[in-house]
Amino acid sequence: MGLWGKRDDMVVHGREPFNAEPPGTALDRTAVTPADTFYARNHGPVPRLDPAGWRLTVDGLVARPLLLTLAGLRSGFDATEATVTLQCADNRRADLTAVRAVPGETPWGPGALSTARFRGVRLADVLARAGLAPDAAHIAFHAPDVSPSADPPQPYEVSVPRDRALAPDVLLAWEMNGAPLPAVHGAPLRVVVPGWIGARSVKWLTRVTARATPSDGWFQATAYRLPPTASAPEGVTLGPLPLNCAVLTPRDGDVVPRGPVRVTGYALAGEGRTVARVEVSVDGGRAWSRAALEETAGPGVWQRWRTTLDLPAGDVHVLARAWDSSGAGMPRSPAAVWNPKGYVTTSWPRVLLRVR
Ligand code: MTE
Repeated sequence: MGLWGKRDDMVVHGREPFNAEPPGTALDRTAVTPADTFYARNHGPVPRLDPAGWRLTVDGLVARPLLLTLAGLRSGFDATEATVTLQCADNRRADLTAVRAVPGETPWGPGALSTARFRGVRLADVLARAGLAPDAAHIAFHAPDVSPSADPPQPYEVSVPRDRALAPDVLLAWEMNGAPLPAVHGAPLRVVVPGWIGARSVKWLTRVTARATPSDGWFQATAYRLPPTASAPEGVTLGPLPLNCAVLTPRDGDVVPRGPVRVTGYALAGEGRTVARVEVSVDGGRAWSRAALEETAGPGVWQRWRTTLDLPAGDVHVLARAWDSSGAGMPRSPAAVWNPKGYVTTSWPRVLLRVR
């Protein structure tokens, strides 16, 4: 077993903070990702919180501030379960760095995404108990892990707009795949915001604050934000996920035998949408064939796809593309979506297979 209970073959991008993604061969295996295979994205050391002494503060623009124990959360609110795919804004950055360098950022492959069955309570129910004030436009989530890479170094904090926070799919979760949350995934309690960049799903949650403005912490105001451009002078705060797809097996650069080769991958539509179609090309995008798509488990949950391709000898590039239930497709080239932070690649994935 590897670090933090992860499988030995994880691609470890960093040990401290611990950042790792599963290889495509492992991610592809099951619709719900086992905890030992789930990607891990951290900005600082993993805090070890004692569940017995842990408390959740709910404060800010509320009528009745709350101080909740884990037992109080479990017994005081209706528990609910959901299958949710989390995807980091860093996912597939390697495809962007292939176009142009993204200095100082980890070249994540397609595995900065995983799916789990989370159990917890609805954030909306907790906020209702606290009595959200009319001017509470944003809900901030605080955690105690201090990131040395933040400027200045600071604990993790981000927020979501009020409407998103009050939607019934946003959870405060203590369980993942039927077991207590592992330490590295946020024990004893984490936020789960389906369909939004993973950065908003705060781990090791200790405080929920209702406020009038978005979080001005480094992670939201600077890190997970695209710098200003002429067309977006304010910069762009990353939130809802766009449509994405990737090839998982074979892996980029693999040597495969001539003849029929099974190719697998996934597609993920953003919040409230499902994947409608995935296509694959082996001739640079002239001809496309449709891949078999797994039945949807619900909006915002990944869908695996598979196809069998008859590959000629030589070096073959496999391209994939997807459409979601709103009819939106993906940009062809990573160059079209390259950005200085290398965030959220949505372009057609492309893997090189050496057919021998
Ligand atoms: N929460 C805290 N407290 N600290 C963090 O560093 N990383 C965020 C989010 N929540 C982070 C956090 C990011 S960027 C992502 S993508 C997800 O957690 C990753 O969740 P996971 O490690 O459980 O896969």
